[in-house]
Amino acid sequence: MDAIVLVGGQGTRLRPLTVTTPKPMLPAAGVPFLTHLLCRLCDAGVDHVVLSTSYRPEVFTAHFGDGAALGLELDYVTEEVPLGTGGGIRNVVDRLRAGPDEPVVVTNGDVLTGLDLRELVAVHRGGGADVTLCLSRVQDPRAFGLVPTDSTGRVTAFLEKPQTSAEIVTDQINAGCYVFARSVIDRIPAGRPVSVERETFPGLLQGGATVLGHVDDGYWLDLGTPTAFVTGCRDLVLGRAPSSALPGPTGEALVLSGASVAAGAVLAGGTTVGAGAVVGSGARLDGTVLFDEAVVEGGAVVRRSVMGRGASVGAGTVLSGVVLGDGVSVGAGNELLDGVRVWPGAQIADGAVRFSPDR
Ligand code: GDD
Ligand code: MG
Repeated sequence: MDAIVLVGGQGTRLRPLTVTTPKPMLPAAGVPFLTHLLCRLCDAGVDHVVLSTSYRPEVFTAHFGDGAALGLELDYVTEEVPLGTGGGIRNVVDRLRAGPDEPVVVTNGDVLTGLDLRELVAVHRGGGADVTLCLSRVQDPRAFGLVPTDSTGRVTAFLEKPQTSAEIVTDQINAGCYVFARSVIDRIPAGRPVSVERETFPGLLQGGATVLGHVDDGYWLDLGTPTAFVTGCRDLVLGRAPSSALPGPTGEALVLSGASVAAGAVLAGGTTVGAGAVVGSGARLDGTVLFDEAVVEGGAVVRRSVMGRGASVGAGTVLSGVVLGDGVSVGAGNELLDGVRVWPGAQIADGAVRFSPDR
């Protein structure tokens, strides 16, 4: 079975981490995030995956090559100019092996999911659908595509990123994973940007196509923001998010090879310590991701944060809800709180940043 994975986005909301690394290639629980998704596809019987790339395609090919290490055949197609989600699907059509009526799995490249893909394909086949969408239920659907269905499971509308409360007609959202009949992909217009959410799905519904929605109540998270990225990594390490791609035993923390954690340091809440990273005595890391070679000195506290490759924090510094780009150096005795992002290479002197709310 063929699958297409859309990985062409720029990952804007995850800057500065995505300045050098495309979002799906950021390390999540010790492997590039995309590995978790590719293994899930493989486990469900997919044997041929086409990566639809645009932004920094070379990072994907350099790591995954022909896919043999994962037991997959991998193909790559790169857009010179981004073609959007629908354009990115259409653009790889000549690499597909499926016949016109056969199913092709299509997925966004930034979702962490426990969804049952075999079940999705079975629903698609059983309903004789043109397209079947996997749906998830979330508390706040505003950042997603809303997908109401009727009592038979047919999709009745597709409302991408609703702007008004009147548009919030359901808690079912597009989980970014679909099964398309191959012939539907052939009919997406070629050579220009197309949004599958704003053009293809509404067009199919208007034309009377059979578009089914299958609600899956398993684990689901879009890793598009720093908060979501940290949450997803935490859930992988804690075993809440299923994956067959974890590099080793996990629990409260995942410590990768060559990392050094001093006695008396505390690693909690699904923390990852990257290869070659160093954690000093008395430091406390909670729900945090240290990329390779990052350094946390003694007594520092790092919560719900990401420290890029080689980034360092000095003794006693507190980070909470922060993103440090690669190589950032934060001196001792600083306090950086929620939402702060520091761009690669920046240096913050000892005691230079404090947080004191205006009371
Ligand atoms: N090839 C290619 N070309 N891929 C692209 C392009 C492009 O021009 N633009 C975006 N992508 C890829 C991204 O890399 C990502 O994997 C996927 O398409 C979706 O893009 P996002 O930017 O992450 O979209 P979103 O999260 O705001 O919304 C989408 O996903 C939600 C679920 O996570 C939509 O599909 C929503 O309807 C959906 O609910
Ligand atoms: Mg997304």
